[in-house]
Amino acid sequence: MNLKNKTILITGGASGIGLEAAKQFLALGNKVIITGRNQMKLETVKKQFPEIIVIQSDASKEEDAIALFEKVNALGGIDILYNNAGVGVPPLNLGIANKKHLEGAVYEMEVNYFGVIRMNNLFIEMLKSRKESAIINTTSILSIVPSVLEATYSASKSALAFYTKTLRSHLQSINASVKVFELLPPLVDTEMVADRQDKKISTTQLVNGLIEGLKNNTETIRVGDSKAIYILNRFFPKKAYNLINAKKEYTKLK
Ligand SMILES: NC(=O)c1ccc[n+]([C@@H]2O[C@H](COP(=O)([O-])OP(=O)(O)OC[C@H]3O[C@@H](n4cnc5c(N)ncnc54)[C@H](OP(=O)(O)O)[C@@H]3O)[C@@H](O)[C@H]2O)c1
Repeated sequence: MNLKNKTILITGGASGIGLEAAKQFLALGNKVIITGRNQMKLETVKKQFPEIIVIQSDASKEEDAIALFEKVNALGGIDILYNNAGVGVPPLNLGIANKKHLEGAVYEMEVNYFGVIRMNNLFIEMLKSRKESAIINTTSILSIVPSVLEATYSASKSALAFYTKTLRSHLQSINASVKVFELLPPLVDTEMVADRQDKKISTTQLVNGLIEGLKNNTETIRVGDSKAIYILNRFFPKKAYNLINAKKEYTKLK
């Protein structure tokens, strides 16, 4: 797809992958709107990049999503909805059977899964009315193979991956022109995984891969190790599982 003169809404765009994407989309000649929960973080971005429009909005709250839709509509609407906001609640060595674990799982689903469906439902008619438009949903390498350390997070991303595939088919079946992309990042060097010592790619590398995928109309955009794990999992699923869940990871849960 063409990535110039588009208006792009990035949820969770004040840091990490979302902020890097905002910078790169801006440099390509697009208008960028970002959201986030933390107003201070949004203001910091605004100071550095006055062209970026910032709107405080929590992806897990319906009233925020509706208010966001109204504000974006008043600004002239969008061509691309990039669902980037996501959370992972660490299990904190709590194992499976306890209340905190369930609370974390519910919150992950609220942001990573229901939050995305809510946004897509609100924006779909606007996107359908555009000449060339798209939805980008952010899943993860862990939607292919789950991590024992991030079991419920992996499940939330796997749910989003299935929804994304069927949303694409549904829109195609009604001849809607909205493209649906799925971005599967591997481990990326951001705040979310700051405590992880494993190999990470930079946000620049990830977003370069995203932009290349969008330009080539690659529906499922796997970057770095996500590509390798996808192929390995098809032929040697046990090996892929063991790679994602290296032994030291299990011991943390004991
Ligand atoms: N980093 C990785 O290794 C990795 C790997 C695979 C997939 N991903 C996915 O990539 C996406 C971006 O992750 P990241 O690594 O860039 O994370 P990050 O550094 O933690 O940034 C996430 C951003 O989302 C915002 N956010 C969180 N919850 C939100 C909510 N309820 N409503 C609105 N904004 C919210 C945060 O800002 P506020 O706190 O101000 O709201 C923050 O700016 C996520 O969907 C994540 O699951 C990341």
